[in-house]
Amino acid sequence: MVKKIAVLTSGGDSPGMNAAIRAVVRSGLAQGLQVLGIERGYAGLLQERFRNMDTRDVSETIQRGGTILFTARCLEFTELEYQKKAAEIIKKHEIDGLVVIGGDGSFRGAQALARLGVNTIGIPGTIDLDIACTDYTIGFDTAVNTAMEAIDRIRDTSSSHERCSVVEVMGRSAGYIAMVCGIATGAEDILLPETYDGNEQAIIDHVIANRAKGRKHHLIINAEGVGHSTSMARRIEAATGVETRATILGYLQRGGSPSGRDRFYASMMGARAVDLLVQGIGDRIVVFKEGRFTDVDIEEGLAMKKNLPETVQRVTRLLAR
Ligand code: ADP
Ligand code: F6P
Repeated sequence: MVKKIAVLTSGGDSPGMNAAIRAVVRSGLAQGLQVLGIERGYAGLLQERFRNMDTRDVSETIQRGGTILFTARCLEFTELEYQKKAAEIIKKHEIDGLVVIGGDGSFRGAQALARLGVNTIGIPGTIDLDIACTDYTIGFDTAVNTAMEAIDRIRDTSSSHERCSVVEVMGRSAGYIAMVCGIATGAEDILLPETYDGNEQAIIDHVIANRAKGRKHHLIINAEGVGHSTSMARRIEAATGVETRATILGYLQRGGSPSGRDRFYASMMGARAVDLLVQGIGDRIVVFKEGRFTDVDIEEGLAMKKNLPETVQRVTRLLAR
């Protein structure tokens, strides 16, 4: 009989994490469970930073960016000794199930706890969209829209000055944000860590050719995983004679009120996580796959490899000219 569950957020925060916490809390309470919030991810779990969550604790949070439970990166949690300690703490507090909202790294922590007998459910929350077992991760849509609006503004001033601009977007070693933002802003070049071959001369030739055709502006979207935007801009300017500026968008992409899409996916995933725990099911990751909400085994999910969709890559190549 499941009586008490807990929820934490871990790794980089993402818009929509609060909506997921809210869904876990409200659907847990609605099914007669006690719900604990664990502050600061695995670090807080080890420090027993628990708070009892009531329905009012999640009022007015669905529209807020960030995470009301705070998040942390906790290096020591990669060690078995601390994972065992965490499992003991969970047992001591009679917690029957744990919901972990985070990215790949956070799921590895959840997997470690699952192996030690703790019922865990993962909910994908990261702006990077880099989790192989799911087609969607909470926060991606908001981050893309935030970055897109910022890039539109950069384009305005860049066009006025007839400049070339290199705009770096987040994504760690994945190029999803860059790929979608690049298409959505009509960029001339889109550099993705998965496909960029380091051929800067091709970019330089492209800038020169576009100038010769009379194009006033050249927008390059560069993924964080490729990086070096500032020095790249310097080299492009030196080789082309076209004034070139670099902008690294950074953390603004991770904040802000979540989009409708993120609020909806977070709510659906949060509720599903609780449904699984209520049935005594653990060791799963809630996912959105092939058009529906479902769940996969945590071990199998983490073993999957993610590739950029070939059709989108083709469109990227066709349109970024
Ligand atoms: P994300 O969850 O966004 O991918 P990180 O990769 O930083 O972010 O992981 C978040 C946290 O998850 C880490 O700080 C650590 O506490 C835990 N974690 C990451 N990798 C592992 C691992 N291999 N084993 C156990 N815990 C891990
Ligand atoms: O995983 C989300 C993310 O924002 C990545 O895009 C980025 O590489 C990383 O987190 C930055 O992490 P930190 O907050 O530790 O600087």
